[in-house]
Amino acid sequence: MTVMTAESMLATRILSFSYPDSPALRNLTLDFSQYNVTGIIGANGCGKSTLFMNLSGILRPQEGEVWWDEEPLEYGQKALRALRQRVVTVFQDPDQQIFYTDVESDIAFSLRNLGMDEDEVQRRTEYALQMVGAEHFRHKPIQYLSFGQKKRVAIAGALVMESDYLLLDEPTAGLDPSGRKQMIDIISNIVAQGKRIIISSHDIDLIYQICDGVYVLSEGEIVGSGTPETVFVQKEMLEKAGLEQPWLVKLHSETGLPLCKTEQALFSLLRTASVPENHEQNGEEIL
Ligand SMILES: Nc1ncnc2c1ncn2[C@@H]1O[C@H](COP(=O)(O)OP(=O)(O)OP(=O)(O)O)[C@@H](O)[C@H]1O
Ligand SMILES: [Mg+2]
Repeated sequence: MTVMTAESMLATRILSFSYPDSPALRNLTLDFSQYNVTGIIGANGCGKSTLFMNLSGILRPQEGEVWWDEEPLEYGQKALRALRQRVVTVFQDPDQQIFYTDVESDIAFSLRNLGMDEDEVQRRTEYALQMVGAEHFRHKPIQYLSFGQKKRVAIAGALVMESDYLLLDEPTAGLDPSGRKQMIDIISNIVAQGKRIIISSHDIDLIYQICDGVYVLSEGEIVGSGTPETVFVQKEMLEKAGLEQPWLVKLHSETGLPLCKTEQALFSLLRTASVPENHEQNGEEIL
């Protein structure tokens, strides 16, 4: 059962949403205050972005509710403005979120829009630049930034709000391996600051590694939920939802090696596993 008592609780209760010509979300009862990092996974078109837009009040469900701070969300201008200071979304495409031609003004945009004191604007902008590792390109015109750098600027623009929840729609899509690794570090740093994060992603290995709770969406419905360790062993359910198991889970299922959370954990386990000298003769198991 969904418990709705935590402060800064973000949840949905029997929420259904349809676009004029098609249903998109059906009977979703979700609780994002259970975990620090919640992953939303599912095939293209299963409803991930639609769910994010319902959570931030951009779209309004026809049935059920979004719950915020122990009350059903209200859709008046004032209530939505308040919500969007505490639940901030970073869209998949950074160009949707970038309005200015220079990095610092762009990051500070929402704070100035709120009429915040300039000293505080500077403090928060510095902090956000640091969190996403963007100090070295802070003076570059945005048009010259790479896609990955723009993604970092978009995240910094959300971080300055110091919100309770950060919603990241496909944070690693379009990033190269080093950009992806940097993004994982950025997300870990944000979590370490005590923020709750909701991530939608097709990057199943990312979700497995960084989330402590997962919802699996298929055609707008929840078909799996729980900790990554419990959700990702359900191969058949994942396949039906158009997904694959993370590679570390596959390795565990196929070989019986221990289930590791990260590849670093697996490698260090393999390095420390002792191989008896007479292994070949006596046919012992290595691990
Ligand atoms: N503006 C819209 N009008 C009508 N239907 C829409 C609209 N936006 C999305 N849909 C439909 O709603 C369903 C859910 O789309 P949504 O974009 O939420 O999926 P998604 O899980 O985010 O997909 P992806 O992985 O491709 O980003 C799809 O069937 C899609 O075609
Ligand atoms: Mg989407």
